[in-house]
Amino acid sequence: MDDNTINSLREALKFSPGNIPLKQHFADTLLKASLLDEAEKEYKEIMAMADTHQSKTGLATVFFLKGQYSHCNVILEELLQTGTVDFDVLILHAKALLKEHSIDKATEIYKKALSINPAFRDEELDNQLRLSSIMGQDDDDDDDDDEAFESPFIQKADINFDDVGGMANIKKEIDLKIIRPLQHPELYKAYGKKAGGGILLYGPPGCGKTYIAKATAGQVNARFISVGLSDILDMWVGNSEKNLHNIFEVARQNTPCVLFFDEIDALGASRSDMKQSGGRHLINQFLQELDGIDGNNEGVLILGATNTPWHLDSAFRRPGRFDRIIFIPPPDTEARESILKLKLKNKPIESIDYKSLASKIENYSGADIEAIIDIAIEEKLEESFKDGIPKPLSTKDILNAVKRHKASTSEWFATAKNFALFANDSGLYDDILTHMKIKK
Ligand SMILES: Nc1ncnc2c1ncn2[C@@H]1O[C@H](COP(=O)(O)OP(=O)(O)O)[C@@H](O)[C@H]1O
Ligand SMILES: [Mg+2]
Repeated sequence: MDDNTINSLREALKFSPGNIPLKQHFADTLLKASLLDEAEKEYKEIMAMADTHQSKTGLATVFFLKGQYSHCNVILEELLQTGTVDFDVLILHAKALLKEHSIDKATEIYKKALSINPAFRDEELDNQLRLSSIMGQDDDDDDDDDEAFESPFIQKADINFDDVGGMANIKKEIDLKIIRPLQHPELYKAYGKKAGGGILLYGPPGCGKTYIAKATAGQVNARFISVGLSDILDMWVGNSEKNLHNIFEVARQNTPCVLFFDEIDALGASRSDMKQSGGRHLINQFLQELDGIDGNNEGVLILGATNTPWHLDSAFRRPGRFDRIIFIPPPDTEARESILKLKLKNKPIESIDYKSLASKIENYSGADIEAIIDIAIEEKLEESFKDGIPKPLSTKDILNAVKRHKASTSEWFATAKNFALFANDSGLYDDILTHMKIKK
């Protein structure tokens, strides 16, 4: 910590000794600089003026660092009794309890902390608490210890770009914008170019937004953390900001990873409602996390997806945030051909005329193609039950299924067209118009 900062803060405080936020900032700065005695004095003075959560946490940290664990625990207990559910407080408390050999109590507190952030790792706590007591009580005989505590949001990405049909330029864009910065951070640094920022995918449902996000994780062997924003809003009313922060923390502790926000429009949905109900705070928290203010996002690849980009707050699109917005259209003929091939791979088939099939399913999404293959397979299964012999799928079978499943993307374009024509914020939706051949 540089002395200048400390000195100027000290000077500033001389002029406004009653400025609690300033004093708090000064105390935190001292703490960071390991000037424990001075920090202690400041925190105590703040507490005499106003009993703030922050000053208590600060003072408890000072005591912890000075090895005065029982002092530390007294303060933290008091804090937790006020109903605070602060992850950092819980972890500090668990550590201080451990130092005092209160194993049961430490385990209880550590469990509470892990319920907030299941992916958290701390070597000391894990060695002494998680593996002994917590694992002991868990009669899940899964021999993979790590798995048991992974966040429910973390998934294994079992697909990569090869599993995604078409989308060549989207793959390229993702590669340039987020994969390479991940693989060559030093090159970006050398040019003073800040890596970071995310990609927002939008388009009609079923055309592979979620799929390509997952494949991106598989492509770089990273973990895939997928979060449905509407889930967050429903699950954690009242505490959403904190929990949004925790999800980012889970991501930061599990790098490299792809952090994927599905239905991201839920954050901006009916914004006037959101503004009244404190949703604005959540949006601000999200932006702050994206900007990496609360933590370093290095190694976290951020992707978002939405079917309704026009509901999204424009603040999301600023540089360093979702500064690439990519339209994911329904697959073109070539892409449909390749999706058909991918989805029929390893299935019993006769020689299939992919070209002619692909030409007959214009406007079908990837999900639609999956659906027609499903229908065709069900028919074949029924036939196969008669003699127990699997009958191979033919071009004709699939064509029959096509008749029974209509393309699902037209409805989306009917709505999207209006936004693209009448609310086309600096050409944001030109891709839609081009796709619809309304604009060259
Ligand atoms: N380009 C594609 N290549 C392979 N499969 C695809 C593709 N697009 C869509 N699919 C299939 O359709 C399903 C639905 O796609 P999804 O990514 O969930 O759509 P979206 O998120 O855009 O609504 C996927 O699980 C995948 O099996
Ligand atoms: Mg999706």
